[in-house]
Amino acid sequence: MYELRGVTRRYPRGKETVQALDGIDLTIADGDRLVIQGPTGGGKSTLLQMLGGLDRPSSGEILLDGTDLAELPEARLTRVRSENIGFVFQSFNLIPTLTAQENVETALVPLGVRAKERREKAAEALASVGLGERLGHLPGEMSGGQQQRVAIARALVKEPKVLLADEPTGNLDESMRDEIMDVLIRRWKELGLTFVMVTHDSAIARKAPRLATIREGRITVRENTGA
Ligand SMILES: Nc1ncnc2c1ncn2[C@@H]1O[C@H](COP(=O)(O)OP(=O)(O)OP(=O)(O)O)[C@@H](O)[C@H]1O
Ligand SMILES: [Mg+2]
Repeated sequence: MYELRGVTRRYPRGKETVQALDGIDLTIADGDRLVIQGPTGGGKSTLLQMLGGLDRPSSGEILLDGTDLAELPEARLTRVRSENIGFVFQSFNLIPTLTAQENVETALVPLGVRAKERREKAAEALASVGLGERLGHLPGEMSGGQQQRVAIARALVKEPKVLLADEPTGNLDESMRDEIMDVLIRRWKELGLTFVMVTHDSAIARKAPRLATIREGRITVRENTGA
């Protein structure tokens, strides 16, 4: 479970300061699915980076199961990240010279998983997103939707507690968007993940059980009774 208290993040910009997050209080229960919307520059990606321990707040607490990520020494934060948190980004971020299987395996290297087990787990993870036949393909040989499924397999191969997705369908056309959402939601249910996703897509937001809006660094959350 996440508990955020009074989280702020300020960035210097010339002589000014940008207040990207301005006092975020937020609780996310285990197994929850939260969708975040809001205008560009509102602070959505900044918040996701805080949840994922990719960045630290200027002030406030980010408790993940009682551990404050804001205070954790770098080495322990890296460990929390590599064990517990999967990321999916708009731009897939696959390594172009590695096959689908090798891309997925990269997530297991920091965990000290042996080569044979890495290969097996990567193949399983790719099968679970419908790419069991594409293990040896390079990213350039796959469609955008397929590349994003490789990225999802890479995020989930280590069986993290948390999945964070920043506009995962932002670069995809409508049919692929639906396909990717189906995969994400199916894996969320199967793995019992805590799933936080940023999207500009209102059709996706309408189906979310819990919906947050971030505007000028402030958050409002509502239960989506119509979902
Ligand atoms: N590394 C950085 N250095 C300086 N300013 C930053 C940095 N990252 C973000 N900001 C600023 O913080 C604010 C929030 O940015 P953020 O990327 O979180 O917005 P966002 O809601 O994700 O927007 P978008 O919908 O365009 O992705 C913006 O004003 C942005 O310019
Ligand atoms: Mg963003």
